[in-house]
Amino acid sequence: MMNTISKINFPENQYETDHKLLARQAIYNYSLRQDTVWGWSAKKYPVLNGSKLLEVGCGNGVFWKEALKIFPQNLDITLTDYSKGMLDESKRNLSELYNFRFSVADVENLNYPDRSFDGVFSHYMLYHTNSPTAALLEIRRVLKKSGFCGILLPDNHHMESIFSAIAVDYPIHAQSFSSESAAKVLPSIFASVEHEEYKDIIRINNIEVILNYIASLSDLDKQNLDFFQKAREKLNKLVDSFGFIELSFSQNLFIVKN
Ligand SMILES: C[S@@+](CC[C@H](N)C(=O)[O-])C[C@H]1O[C@@H](n2cnc3c(N)ncnc32)[C@H](O)[C@@H]1O
Repeated sequence: MMNTISKINFPENQYETDHKLLARQAIYNYSLRQDTVWGWSAKKYPVLNGSKLLEVGCGNGVFWKEALKIFPQNLDITLTDYSKGMLDESKRNLSELYNFRFSVADVENLNYPDRSFDGVFSHYMLYHTNSPTAALLEIRRVLKKSGFCGILLPDNHHMESIFSAIAVDYPIHAQSFSSESAAKVLPSIFASVEHEEYKDIIRINNIEVILNYIASLSDLDKQNLDFFQKAREKLNKLVDSFGFIELSFSQNLFIVKN
């Protein structure tokens, strides 16, 4: 266990605040599903009364707004993120809901003793680490023998149709550690691996929400106004022809145990 924070694999400014993450979260308001991936996954997690829980890379804490309605009441919950700005957003969003502990932490160098948590949550963050394997080994180290870790990841084709519609190369950062990568790596680290898919369809006619999503992504955030104007025209044509743009995709939940 080391206490130094290493260089992190995401571009400057991506997670200083949650405004780019919020732009991406907004697209899911157009889902045809009644439930969200947060409520869906929270129902699958084996959280028991009195559990000691840790989230790594908690972002703006959105998971907990739904999880607290589903999990038992008496929990000891620590939320961590590498970015102080993101942790501040979590504090702002969640402090009135529950007595969380908050701490800046790099998942690859957690400052917690071996076997200290009953559950660890790693949602949409492993692809940002320098070494997902090192992060997973660190999670395994802090998990109790009876503990579980919940991992959410998109697959290699996440939102691909948006990028083909505007004819840009597929830029998704998540491809560096997708659900396909996890399916290969997790069995070599954890004794038990369960995988479930949350299949979703988004029908959206709000072009600005799609453009904000695109503009929030690393690499595409550097495109000029001309790029976005052309993208707007292409997306408008699709909405004029079909009434909406449809995106089908799945989110992937892995529940792993030591
Ligand atoms: C895509 S956001 C996901 C946030 C949240 N888990 C969610 O699902 O909405 C990724 C988060 O991981 C954090 N992060 C990236 N690398 C990290 C690391 N090495 N250790 C801890 N957090 C990290 C970022 O600061 C960001 O808040």
